[in-house]
Amino acid sequence: MQFPQEFLWGTATAAHQVEGNNVNSDFWVLEHLPHTMFTEPSGDAVDHYHRYRDDIALLAELGFNSYRFSIEWARVEPEDGFFSKAMLDHYRRMLETCLSHGMKPMVTLHHFTSPRWVVAQGGWTHAETAAKFARYAARVMHDLGDLVEYVCTINEMNIPTMAKLFWRPDTSEEVQIQQRAFEMRAAKAFAVSREQFAPFMFAVSEQGRDVILDAHQQAVAAVKAERGDIQVGMTLALADMQALEGGEIMRDYFRHELQDVFLEVARADDFIGVQTYTRDRFGPEGRLPPEEGVEQTQMGYEFWPEALEGAMRYAAEFTSLPVIVTENGIGTEDDARRIEYYRRALQGVVNCLNAGMDVRGYYAWSAFDNFEWMMGYRPTFGLIAVDRETQMRAVKPSARWLGEIAKANVFDEK
Ligand code: BGC
Repeated sequence: MQFPQEFLWGTATAAHQVEGNNVNSDFWVLEHLPHTMFTEPSGDAVDHYHRYRDDIALLAELGFNSYRFSIEWARVEPEDGFFSKAMLDHYRRMLETCLSHGMKPMVTLHHFTSPRWVVAQGGWTHAETAAKFARYAARVMHDLGDLVEYVCTINEMNIPTMAKLFWRPDTSEEVQIQQRAFEMRAAKAFAVSREQFAPFMFAVSEQGRDVILDAHQQAVAAVKAERGDIQVGMTLALADMQALEGGEIMRDYFRHELQDVFLEVARADDFIGVQTYTRDRFGPEGRLPPEEGVEQTQMGYEFWPEALEGAMRYAAEFTSLPVIVTENGIGTEDDARRIEYYRRALQGVVNCLNAGMDVRGYYAWSAFDNFEWMMGYRPTFGLIAVDRETQMRAVKPSARWLGEIAKANVFDEK
């Protein structure tokens, strides 16, 4: 199948996961706490901060015509109200590098990490944070907006809600105690009370959700005020939510809390960014773990590439917006399974296009094996491997396979 002419084929990364030495960010603090919940610190990551030129050139050579990366708020505004021109220039050079290779950049303004001072002020449950985020968005667009066509405000705005509803209750009592101790120690490190402790991922309260939604809306307005024609959207973690017999009410309840509340706000945007990794199944008791014996990824997700089509259809129907798949991929050490995953996921994209849906692009997560948050460097989502000692890049067969499809703009359905 021939894809639409302007179709965006890209890979995605997030600053903290690839740049290295993000020392002014809240995550850096969390990673270095005594008895931290992080397996290992991000450290130099894959040193994308210095190696972006070669990295972007390599992605272009592989066949991709777009690159989604995030701008690090903690670098651009390391102190409340101080904007670093040098850091903005760094991101300007990244954008110029993309454009010089004929790649359209897509910029994410927030991908999980925030400046330390944001958390010290009360983080993502503090109403003021929304305005501070919009001020940062305005400054980024003022300095860089002329080089950008696509902006994602906040990556996976529904992740804190997901942590509240799925991840936390799913852990053993022992892990919950460990988590509480970690949060108490972390709150102290930021000199806030435990109630006020709210890095993005920890803003699990309803108030946190509202601040995050407000931050999105204010940031959209800020971007549009700088340049009205930039395409702006949110990205959401959207599992394909499936009900087994009798599980419909549970499915609908969780889908409302985790997806609909956010999709309703997204309706006012230019596109919806769909990020899908697997499906979630629901029975009358609630969410079900993957069935015994099914193939699981390094993350413990069911290997279910067909989830993408379901999530895309749901998001498009709900919002009537153009869809961009802003992340899709798999953590696996078996690159042949990665190819199989992408093959079946792309079949879903083709089905959506054949059904007449407005799908604008597809971004694989991720360009590189990188820092997978609390799990450290063990999970490998990359199309490109990185030697942790030498930082040498090694292109995996999956990168060539997907790059060829991108280059041809054709997917052979077989
Ligand atoms: C996030 C990425 C993460 C990926 C794989 C997404 O939820 O946006 O930062 O690395 O999933 O877990």
